[in-house]
Amino acid sequence: MNRVQKISELTNQKIWVAPLAGVTDKAYRAICKANGADVLVSEMVSADGLFYAKEKSLEYAQFNEKQRPFGIQIFGNDPKMMAQGAEIILQEKPDFIDINMGCPVKKVVKRGAGSALMKTPKIAMEITKAVKQVLSGTDVPLSVKFRAGWDMDSINCLEYGLMMQEAGADILCLHPRTRSQMFSGKSNWTLIKELKANVEIPVIGNGDIWNVEDAKQMFEQTGCDSIMIGRGVMGNPWIFAKIKYFLETAKILEIDNEQMLQTILQHLELAIKYKGETRALREMRSHLSNYTKGIQGGSRARKIINGSTDLETIVTTLNNLFLMER
Ligand SMILES: Cc1cc2nc3c(=O)[nH]c(=O)nc-3n(C[C@H](O)[C@H](O)[C@H](O)COP(=O)(O)O)c2cc1C
Repeated sequence: MNRVQKISELTNQKIWVAPLAGVTDKAYRAICKANGADVLVSEMVSADGLFYAKEKSLEYAQFNEKQRPFGIQIFGNDPKMMAQGAEIILQEKPDFIDINMGCPVKKVVKRGAGSALMKTPKIAMEITKAVKQVLSGTDVPLSVKFRAGWDMDSINCLEYGLMMQEAGADILCLHPRTRSQMFSGKSNWTLIKELKANVEIPVIGNGDIWNVEDAKQMFEQTGCDSIMIGRGVMGNPWIFAKIKYFLETAKILEIDNEQMLQTILQHLELAIKYKGETRALREMRSHLSNYTKGIQGGSRARKIINGSTDLETIVTTLNNLFLMER
């Protein structure tokens, strides 16, 4: 497949799982894929980290053949370092590389990376050019993920997107909130529409897709090529199959408790396989909390789960919650 075909494979009416540090790890990405997600992206990986502590950083980027197409996201503030990071990442044979220009977290922006790059578009352009240079001669596309701007007084996503296109990005992904908004307020989908109307490369629409209706609206209102879902997948990996079913039939796909339980236990099993039981049980707490939200008896189950380090107790509690007590 050449680059053009690859870009089309990634962006033609697809559903992407957003990179969510601490959530969409290898186990959860596998669960999303098994439930209908089309495109997966790693959690963000530090370009400096790849240079100084390669093995640890690469843990965030692990995937297997079944998870393709798979992108690895890198972040940093220095074009040279980002190019070196891209070179290291390329050895993992991802289907595309994504540059994080949207992360609002203090630790990241104070280094001039993530959404801080929205304030320094020239450096952002240099980064995109440097990474693109590494990808020249390969068929690996480059995507750039960014926000509306730094704050409400400096909304610049349209100019910024045009600059990234000029610098060599093959795909743009916009989360139309400013850095100052963090995750508050509502994302402004009009900005996605505007970007799509003005660039020549595919645009991925991201922000506030919580259900099937939102997904349909995102496509219709913005004309975006594909959609990306973040918080809406937390505790709800069934959202992908539901969206596809809804877009095809205008009907709601019901997932029963047994199916839910099966998926949750699969997730638990994979987490243990990849991270070992002790770490997996600790990290699964937030996932299990998301899965059991809004379910009758969920609060009692969460109390037991959060107080337990015993796999059998956790599995029994989940069985009781999803199968017996309803
Ligand atoms: C817990 C969490 C972790 C995130 N980690 C990343 C990340 O590693 N890289 C990135 O580009 N965006 C990250 N984001 C932003 C999301 O990818 C997405 O752009 C944002 O949540 C908006 O989409 P949503 O409204 O569907 O959640 C993160 C968001 C959350 C809530």
